[in-house]
Amino acid sequence: MPQAVNAHQLENTVSDTHYPTLGGIDAIQSAFEAAGYICTKRIATVIRLAAALEKPILIEGPPGVGKTELAKTCAQVVNRPLVRLQCYEGLDESKALYEWKYGKQLLYTQLLKEQLGDVLEGAKGLAESMERLHQFGDVFYSEAFLESRPLLKAMETENGGVLLIDEIDKADFEFESLLLEVLSDFQVSIPELGTISARSKPLVFLTSNDTRDLSDALKRRCLHLHIPFPSIDLEARIVASRVPELTQSMTDQLVHFVHAIRELDLKKAPAISETVDWARSLVLLHANDLDGRLVQDTLNVLLKYEEDILLAEGQLSKLMAAVKKT
Ligand SMILES: Nc1ncnc2c1ncn2[C@@H]1O[C@H](COP(=O)(O)OP(=O)(O)OP(=O)(O)O)[C@@H](O)[C@H]1O
Ligand SMILES: [Mg+2]
Repeated sequence: MPQAVNAHQLENTVSDTHYPTLGGIDAIQSAFEAAGYICTKRIATVIRLAAALEKPILIEGPPGVGKTELAKTCAQVVNRPLVRLQCYEGLDESKALYEWKYGKQLLYTQLLKEQLGDVLEGAKGLAESMERLHQFGDVFYSEAFLESRPLLKAMETENGGVLLIDEIDKADFEFESLLLEVLSDFQVSIPELGTISARSKPLVFLTSNDTRDLSDALKRRCLHLHIPFPSIDLEARIVASRVPELTQSMTDQLVHFVHAIRELDLKKAPAISETVDWARSLVLLHANDLDGRLVQDTLNVLLKYEEDILLAEGQLSKLMAAVKKT
């Protein structure tokens, strides 16, 4: 049987110089809760380890369970900037790492035209002119002409920060190999300039919705965190934190209903984000009891497909029975 993690043992064996404000596992849970994110012990432990071992966290799980929000809240908790890279099909080096400022290079060549005349003066033939120009070519490939994109920006951030590489599964498989250097060595290699290492290693979060398998090389470099749909208790705490205006009794009824509805064979089961939206809607409607009529009128906040709404309406009395049990 795997040994349970002893929080105190862990806190005594890991040292963390970069994010001292993070504290131990209990402190992380409290700090996240104060920032509005209900963090389980498992999540807090992964964050603690990632900070100490300087490893990225790969978060997997269904849509709307708080993967992106976890990274955003972490930046808030450590009070450091968040650098976000949103992944999509076709994302490449020039959007993720860096790009040369072609416009500026061109402008400077125009402005320096006269100086170029001086440089080339007396040169005999094309070969000699090229030779002289080569000596100046590097000027246009210096940091002054470099446009940093999110991954490089995260390396340049003073005193660390939080790097969120969101929805990595949406990027092409080949893009993952571009990330490996950043994820394991916290550096970016630029052929014209050399290697740029992180000024201070950021806390890195990658998220994935499991739409495709990620490479073993990427997985190996990360600590893995799966966030499933929450338990009833956890979801009730999340709703209470996000929508404190909703009464305790309404929160309990709503969460039981959502858990019952997730049991149906839906095209798209409601996630935490939908539960929170539904809770907000009920507050706006000044509802103080979850009855069948109210549910029917607001099901469209919870369910995103007409066929799911019809299925739920057909099962309404069974679903309401789950609510009344509370
Ligand atoms: N543990 C939590 N504590 C507080 N709020 C939460 C928690 N988990 C989720 N939420 C709420 O759910 C919303 C959706 O979360 P988020 O956008 O992070 O989901 P996601 O897993 O990144 O979804 P997707 O895969 O669709 O991007 C958040 O804005 C937040 O309100
Ligand atoms: Mg997300």
